[in-house]
Amino acid sequence: MSIAKKAKVDLNNELLAASQHGNLSEVKRLITAKADVAHQEKDHGVSPMMAAAVGGHKEVVHELLCNGAPWNALDRKGYCAGDYALRAGQSAVVDQIVNAGVSAELLFAQIDKNNRKAQGIASSDRVKVDSKEYINRNVRYTSGKLLDQSQDAVMMEWETPLMEAHAKILCPKENLDVLNIGFGMGIIDSALQKHKPKSHTIVEVHRGVLKKMREDGWDKKKGVTIVPGRWQDVMHELGQFDAIFFDTYGEYYDDMREFHSWLPRILRPGGTYSFFNGLCPDNIVFQGVMCQVVQIELAKFGIDAQFAECDINIGEKDWQGVNRKYFWSNTYYLPICKREVAKESKSGTGGQGSRSIAPTSSTDTEEKKT
Ligand SMILES: C[S@@+](CC[C@H](N)C(=O)[O-])C[C@H]1O[C@@H](n2cnc3c(N)ncnc32)[C@H](O)[C@@H]1O
Repeated sequence: MSIAKKAKVDLNNELLAASQHGNLSEVKRLITAKADVAHQEKDHGVSPMMAAAVGGHKEVVHELLCNGAPWNALDRKGYCAGDYALRAGQSAVVDQIVNAGVSAELLFAQIDKNNRKAQGIASSDRVKVDSKEYINRNVRYTSGKLLDQSQDAVMMEWETPLMEAHAKILCPKENLDVLNIGFGMGIIDSALQKHKPKSHTIVEVHRGVLKKMREDGWDKKKGVTIVPGRWQDVMHELGQFDAIFFDTYGEYYDDMREFHSWLPRILRPGGTYSFFNGLCPDNIVFQGVMCQVVQIELAKFGIDAQFAECDINIGEKDWQGVNRKYFWSNTYYLPICKREVAKESKSGTGGQGSRSIAPTSSTDTEEKKT
């Protein structure tokens, strides 16, 4: 190893040790001396931020973040600095790292609006294929599952209690106009039907799924309208709803964000929106970040998002016959997103006839508020 390289390695090791001991002045000195804040030691992949997180050294974590240390780096076992803080019971540092993650995600969304999908966050871990590729693939209904041709699960029966919980919060009473994006196995749609909606619109793109819907008689059910096509292509013809559910496949969070920009046009004031929350289900810290990102982004549209904890019970046997798992946690954070009742619209709702013209950008909404 060259002398220069050895000196750099020494600096990085010193930064790791100083971070672990919460020695802020030494951390600052080493950063000025060009120690690498993103360095991860080679055996376990521990970074200075992970080391500082365990000891609850908030100022050091702050210094590292301010100097560009990534909040979401993973060690060799797949744990991030937030996980280290969580396991060590350092809740203030967990919050600090989650806040840094939220800021970073919101910032990236602004900077790189047009170029994130290739490496963006999946809207759920079901995703493995490109959305357009999925549409051209065959799908197959088999016992308790909807699989694509690679045996990846598009939808699974174990989600039934979750879908029923979604339907319950979406329909607090009967006679509502409801919209569901993505039929899959129709579990949410069957659950919504139990709440006796006035109208029930289902947008679905896949020909195999549409065929199954017809075979099962969904096209003949009273009050049900099937809108074939990608939601992206049919939004302008949908009208307004009291309750909206979104659960697609092969899409990214950026797609969901685009869908959210339609909500001010299609969700009535006082109405409820929810979605399958498969955002980063394998890491509680990342999921916390994404839930907050959703909360902040929906707030710009006058929609208050809360997350209700639901216990879920999935065993290894539930995944039999499936190429890969898409959910790991025993807790599901069910989104309950309510559109505010604006003062001027309290007396009347938009009515089915009102047509959307274009999605709203969060900046449009902000401008209107000022
Ligand atoms: C995960 S499944 C939905 C499961 C459903 N919530 C249930 O309870 O059975 C996703 C569905 O969304 C459909 N889909 C995927 N992308 C879509 C898009 N862009 N527009 C409309 N439907 C889409 C898929 O064909 C699939 O039927």
